[in-house]
Amino acid sequence: MVLRLVFLGPPGAGKGTIAQRLCEAHGLLQISTGDLLREEAGKGTELGDRVKAIMESGKYVEDSTVAELVENKLKELGEKGFILDGFPRTIAQAETLEGILDKLGLKLNGAFDIEASDETIVERLSGRRSCGKCGKIYHLKNIQPKEEGKCDGCGSDLVQRNDDKPEVVKTRLETYKEKTAPLVKYYKEKGLLKVVDANGEVDENMQNVEAILKGVE
Ligand code: AP5
Repeated sequence: MVLRLVFLGPPGAGKGTIAQRLCEAHGLLQISTGDLLREEAGKGTELGDRVKAIMESGKYVEDSTVAELVENKLKELGEKGFILDGFPRTIAQAETLEGILDKLGLKLNGAFDIEASDETIVERLSGRRSCGKCGKIYHLKNIQPKEEGKCDGCGSDLVQRNDDKPEVVKTRLETYKEKTAPLVKYYKEKGLLKVVDANGEVDENMQNVEAILKGVE
């Protein structure tokens, strides 16, 4: 079965960490709208500068920009499975996604709600470091690279994200609760929702996800 999944869940709950490992294990493509937007933000274009400012404020980039980036990626995919990590984040984005998948003749098999407590989230985000080149995710204490400050995969420097400052994290959590939390009900009503308790160690979380995947059709 080809897996086509959506990952919801608050900032810092561990969506990217689980998505990276699951994609490696199952040969899926991770489509992270955060990564796509950071790439856009680094281009120095008018659009990039606008996206950068929105991301650094903790608010969401407008639906049409994000949807276009996702549609382009999905069109390139063919039959390969994917995880949409951080998309959709609004009801409008979820409806747009349905339209894109319909056009491509594809169906989602699950919407995974990756959940962690506010306390866990703050601890995880304050220590997050990620590779400036390939995007691999680490943590100063919890998930350390073999060599301090360097990516295990490509050897590039690890960086701290500008939106991981405490005041921005507060806005990101508020934005999530206002705009994205309603998607839990949306996907529950479609029979696609799977809730993942991601408060534990990475290996434990991966076991939870793999167990849930056994029931996915
Ligand atoms: P995005 O980059 O997607 O950020 P996010 O959703 O806020 O999620 P994060 O990447 O912060 O966290 P995560 O859940 O992936 O956790 P991670 O695995 O890194 O989006 C950034 C911004 O882009 C948004 O604010 C918005 O402006 C814009 N944007 C993106 N998508 C958009 C959309 N669809 N529409 C509009 N705007 C959009 O883990 C966090 C840390 O914890 C890491 O250090 C990790 O090593 C550590 N960790 C993970 N799991 C564990 C564990 N089990 N135990 C201990 N530590 C752990």
